[in-house]
Amino acid sequence: MIDKKELIKRESEAIFQTYTRQNVALVRGSGATVWDSDGREYLDFVAGIAVNNVGHCHPDVVEAIKKQAETLIHTSNLYYTENQVVLAEELKKLTGMSKAYFCNSGAESVEAALKLVRRATGKSKIVAAERSFHGRTLGALGNTYKPIYREPFRPLDEATFVPYNDQEALKAAVTQESGAVILEPVQGEAGVYVADADYLRAARQICDDVGALLIFDEVQTGFGRTGKWFAKEHSGVLPDIITLAKAMAGGLPMGAMLATGAVADAFQRGDHGSTFAGGALISAAALATIQVIQNENLVQRSAELGAYLRAELKDLGPREIRGLGLMVGMDLDADCKALVENALQNGVLLNSTSEHTIRLIPPLVVTEEQIDRVVKVIGESLKKAS
Ligand SMILES: Cc1ncc(COP(=O)(O)O)c(C=O)c1O
Repeated sequence: MIDKKELIKRESEAIFQTYTRQNVALVRGSGATVWDSDGREYLDFVAGIAVNNVGHCHPDVVEAIKKQAETLIHTSNLYYTENQVVLAEELKKLTGMSKAYFCNSGAESVEAALKLVRRATGKSKIVAAERSFHGRTLGALGNTYKPIYREPFRPLDEATFVPYNDQEALKAAVTQESGAVILEPVQGEAGVYVADADYLRAARQICDDVGALLIFDEVQTGFGRTGKWFAKEHSGVLPDIITLAKAMAGGLPMGAMLATGAVADAFQRGDHGSTFAGGALISAAALATIQVIQNENLVQRSAELGAYLRAELKDLGPREIRGLGLMVGMDLDADCKALVENALQNGVLLNSTSEHTIRLIPPLVVTEEQIDRVVKVIGESLKKAS
């Protein structure tokens, strides 16, 4: 194995320096635990950034990948493959949408949604929320709020940004020229801000009033993360388009964009496509992941353990705790970068979304004991910092 110091040096010479990484090289994972190159163990409350919902290397997902890899890995979308069709049917059932388009990441699912809006409405103007994150490709980036992400890459097709959870602001921004409103039901990258159910219901009405489509970006909130299969269920609002990725295929890269009837039918043959999308191997992994979420009641587990985690964190006296299910944001007076570093030294992987906010998004298979340990480490780190 390459020594960590040497690995870090070689990374800096061989890989574009676009990521800020923590000083750790991970080599193995199981459930909510990962191990580094020195054999040290960590509780993973980042979970691949809300990807490892079924835990690291879930045996059923590993088995499905192995079996499919020995049979057929990839053929292209020039041919029919069974796993892709069965997966689309599963997603239809779970989301209430009519048809699925497969892709390979969250940003790609947003790109597909943006193209579909143009096809279905003939309009291209989008209204998005302040603090939003929809991805880094040019189309998705135009709808991502943080000016430091957008400014170096202008010109972009940029959304009109409105304050989140503000019905009046949304109503004022959406016009007859709007093609769509795109919203995260819970804003993850921003630090876990939850949309009010009334706000999402109002968004539905505002879109209907002008013939605009409503897109829910559930890339981060999907597959049980918020204590429902999809976060839209908390409000009961059915959007026209849903974007998915992250947890979908148990850790392998996959995305999907789903839409309701007439909207989905607006895409014609040749309108969009991707070489790897919905391949046999990745679809097998996604089907196994969905099966594990069902078999192990992970949606309910997320709701219950999320409530437990928030209650335990409250005792640490944060400024604010937000979240649904096992998607939790906590504002602290402390320097969160130092907190994350301290937690790492004490065997816990955490993520800070800003100077004073940490986000906790563990695998949904996490146990109460593991939560207790993480809360204890955060508490001790906070004491050290004060
Ligand atoms: C809500 C949301 N949309 C889109 C994306 C982009 O996904 P990806 O990084 O897979 O392109 C993310 C990633 O964090 C996200 O949280």
